[in-house]
Amino acid sequence: MSDPKQKYPEAYEICEKFMLNKQHMDEIVNRLTKEINMGLTRDTHPRATVKCFVTYVQELPTGNERGKYLALDLGGTNFRVLLVNLINDRDIDITGKTYAISKELQEGSGIKLFDFIARCLAEFCKEHKMEQSNTPLGFTFSFPCKQVGIDNGTLVAWTKGFKAEGVVNQNVVELLRDAIKRRGDFKVNVVAILNDTTGTLMSCAFNHRNCKIGMIVGTGSNACYVEKTANTQTFDGYLSSTKPNMIINCEWGAFGDNGVLDFIRTSYDHEVDKQSINPKKQIFEKCISGMYMGELVRLVLLELMEKEAIFKGQTSQSILIKGKFDTSFITEIESDQPGSHRNAALVMDRLGIRTNNEKDLGCLRFICETISTRSARLAACGLVCLINKMNVKDLTVGIDGSVYRYHPNYHRLLTENMNMLLKGSVKFELVLSEDGSGRGAALIAAVCAK
Ligand code: BGC
Repeated sequence: MSDPKQKYPEAYEICEKFMLNKQHMDEIVNRLTKEINMGLTRDTHPRATVKCFVTYVQELPTGNERGKYLALDLGGTNFRVLLVNLINDRDIDITGKTYAISKELQEGSGIKLFDFIARCLAEFCKEHKMEQSNTPLGFTFSFPCKQVGIDNGTLVAWTKGFKAEGVVNQNVVELLRDAIKRRGDFKVNVVAILNDTTGTLMSCAFNHRNCKIGMIVGTGSNACYVEKTANTQTFDGYLSSTKPNMIINCEWGAFGDNGVLDFIRTSYDHEVDKQSINPKKQIFEKCISGMYMGELVRLVLLELMEKEAIFKGQTSQSILIKGKFDTSFITEIESDQPGSHRNAALVMDRLGIRTNNEKDLGCLRFICETISTRSARLAACGLVCLINKMNVKDLTVGIDGSVYRYHPNYHRLLTENMNMLLKGSVKFELVLSEDGSGRGAALIAAVCAK
């Protein structure tokens, strides 16, 4: 393809601001390493932005876990209730039901949110005739939680568009147990609360014994990794524990909340942040994850349209509306075969702009590539930071989330950029971790039950 700088000079001028070179990336790895160390260290933890919460998960699955477990998965636009049957070391049977979490539930009262969760769970138990079975349940709750035990997690802050009242600073396991008690029509045994990254790591480790990192690039972004217990100073038993390892939930989405990423942020990033439900929070996440990538593309497009540098003479009401450019559009546009702009044209058509102009559609693709490449480079920096921190030379990384799962080039971009930073010194494999929130929750429940 010809040089985008020549072909789309106005777009290039904007996109250039999103481009990260090796120097930027090395610096990001260094800064994140510092923040992670602050999170792990007792004295600095209270003012650390990357909290590195201990998960109380100290063992990876052995492959011998068996039995039936319930899992709840709350962390995005959908809520799921799952029944997971660990049959043998290869077969795991999952049946479940998905419920939409309306904006009202996301932003209303916490009691209502938990009543809704308990109602879904009650219906599910009834359907499966397990109201009285007191089945062990793992609760995948994918928000930053400070844990003081495997079944005790206090929500520190909502992310990803949630703001239900009366939940921040509460132990969400208690909120769940209370809601179940209020109904009183079924019994479950809530044994663990976990983050989706932890579930992803556990789920991947079931099949890949060498898995040491779980990462999510979906609506939000975050990662967890296996740390030496002796380095986890916020864990009371860090010196006396007989178990050598502890999974740490980094909560890397908050990296940059203290300004250390401002050197790479653009005016578009500042705009996305300003318009969000949680300004000045989750800065790294806002550069990486699916909740924000589409909006970044939209803001760039709007500016180019104003300058009449793209879609000349065409306007649309739709594209003026915040959030109308869904991140899935990026995936669709970048899935166009070389030389074709079929998906790109369809996306724009849906947004009220009818065009077959090759140059414009090529430019749109270039903007999408810029945003997804930056996202993947930042995620690669995060992974390399954790790999260096663990000082391992060979590992598997379990990954989930809609961006990683559906974007046609994300896996390749991650791999290339990690190799560039690691200079070939580490052998790693990036694998899609199937249903961490369900399988992972069951595996943790099984490990707890042991
Ligand atoms: C949350 C994390 C979660 C991530 C991916 C972030 O917004 O803070 O807890 O792991 O999204 O779902």
